[in-house]
Amino acid sequence: MTNETRALRAPGVRPRPYPTALFILGSAAIHFSVAPMHFQEYVPFGLFFVSAGIGQVALALGILTVPARRLFLAGAAGTGALIALWFVSRTIGLPIGPHPGRPEAIGFSDIACVVLELVSTLLLVRAAFRRPKSRRRGPVRIALTTAPAVLLTTILTADGVGSAINDMPYAFNASPIVPGQAATNLALLTEAPGSEPVKTFTLTARVTRIKGQDAWTYNGTVPGPVLRVTQGDRLRVTLHNRLPASTTIHWHGVPGLPDAEDGVAGITQQAVTPGHSMTYEFVAREPGTYWYHSHQDTSSQIGRGLFGALVVEPKGGPTESRDYTVVLHGAVDVSAVAINGTTGDLHLDARPGDTVRLRIVNAFAPGMDGGAETPVLLGAPYRVVALDGRDLVQPQVLPAERLPLGMGQRADVVFTMPTSGAVRLVDAAEKGEAAFSIPTTRPATVTVGDGPAPGAVDVGRLPLFDLTRYGQGGADPVAAAHADATYPIVLEAQGGFHDGRIELVHTINGRPSPYVPPLNVREGQVIRLHIVNRTPEFHPMHLHGHTLSVLRKDGRPIEGSPVHLDTILVGPHETWDVAFAADNPGIWMLHCHVLLHASFGMSMTVNYAGISSPYEMGSRSGNVPE
Ligand code: C2O
Ligand code: CU
Repeated sequence: MTNETRALRAPGVRPRPYPTALFILGSAAIHFSVAPMHFQEYVPFGLFFVSAGIGQVALALGILTVPARRLFLAGAAGTGALIALWFVSRTIGLPIGPHPGRPEAIGFSDIACVVLELVSTLLLVRAAFRRPKSRRRGPVRIALTTAPAVLLTTILTADGVGSAINDMPYAFNASPIVPGQAATNLALLTEAPGSEPVKTFTLTARVTRIKGQDAWTYNGTVPGPVLRVTQGDRLRVTLHNRLPASTTIHWHGVPGLPDAEDGVAGITQQAVTPGHSMTYEFVAREPGTYWYHSHQDTSSQIGRGLFGALVVEPKGGPTESRDYTVVLHGAVDVSAVAINGTTGDLHLDARPGDTVRLRIVNAFAPGMDGGAETPVLLGAPYRVVALDGRDLVQPQVLPAERLPLGMGQRADVVFTMPTSGAVRLVDAAEKGEAAFSIPTTRPATVTVGDGPAPGAVDVGRLPLFDLTRYGQGGADPVAAAHADATYPIVLEAQGGFHDGRIELVHTINGRPSPYVPPLNVREGQVIRLHIVNRTPEFHPMHLHGHTLSVLRKDGRPIEGSPVHLDTILVGPHETWDVAFAADNPGIWMLHCHVLLHASFGMSMTVNYAGISSPYEMGSRSGNVPE
């Protein structure tokens, strides 16, 4: 027997591989933490992860008690096999399971786990071929050599376990059927048949090359076509999905929209898969400026170009001689605000003396600060006649001011063309205080009419339009009504785990979506919301299917015209009180329209008693409403 083989058989002599054992235990912890999700997906997968974890715990204890070459080699082979299996599942897909042959997405937790496994495999191989030391190490030595491993394992294990237990849910229903309680399936809440004139549209969602970029478009353009109808029309809009991903259409702000036509993936419908179609049908009951956009993977799909304006003209046609839609949005090719598809100057025709209505839609997705666009009209006195498509009472004439519009909001401005010269709309922005906002250029302008354009103005110094003291009079029965309930809506943000990632998690009442407890209402109630913004960011809060009456800003009642919105811009550290009549049964989203914030958790639902949803969000259905 040589010295070396004798040493291999003498357990006490080979140093105990504490760091290696730690790495193995770290990846075991991650395996245990992902097991529950895999059990939901496919029981054999769940069993596999539990057994992998148990095997790793046994291996770690084994190499500490019997540090023998054979055990090291067996451990390295086993761990290597786990890595190989992971690699196959992420590239060509496993041949078994619920989706054989389909590669899985790479997540935070599996990266942490594979790193731990790689390191432990290398250490196991090294330990197997290393010459044993003749002397035992003292406790100080052991502590020093183990410290880096403790640090690395702690970080990776915390990341891996944290993202695994905060992953996107496998299946989450916003309003499941409760056994023993009668409930109406929201899929039945469609538009009732009627004799309204039918307006038919087709929107084909497809990939279109625009300025060298692959945009996702409706009918080949960004924004999609303006859908113009008359109050009282019945819209029948067929969506054809030619995209490589599933999609939907949401009709943002349309009063009285039936819940089943709301277009929210995983709440009011199953997202339309590639190659399939769906027809939305609803009656345009109220005139106004609205818009439409995808509500599947919204933050990404609106960003790629899936949005457009919806205009409902009053019966009898437009009240102004010129009626234009002006959509502010992200340019496809550069980081800039574009208007109706152009980053330059958009020219609109008008003659001296014409009355002009600009229907301004803010579809521009801001950065993390949630900043609002603040377009300015120069060259003519004007009135803001409507906000979010709802008329204001006795709006007075204004000088040049910045008109704050959070993402999703609309404003209609009306003016008379001067006897000479053009009128110009200049885009500016109001930034929040948060870090990480991406600098954006705002070169886009709109010039209305011909002749010299108004001279340049330092728009940053102009006052901000204040909707709490504009126009006058008018009754607001919802604002005046006794409230059946008042709910706090507390908006916060802090670093943490959400949907399997480390993010600036955005919460409502302390929790991120889909775990924000819903607001439960009954048909016929009047509900008040006390919205508190505890962040340095802007949050345009949008309630689907309803109209919000503005009551107070920072505790002070509004003084001018009643203000009715579907999206309320809540500035940094502001508090707003609003009320709405629960008059449209369904399950409705209430979320921040800064799509980043919504996808980071700032989203919840308003649930009517007695309504259930047959749809689910999460990784099983592929429905991702934010
Ligand atoms: Cu503009 Cu939830 O939508
Ligand atoms: Cu927000």
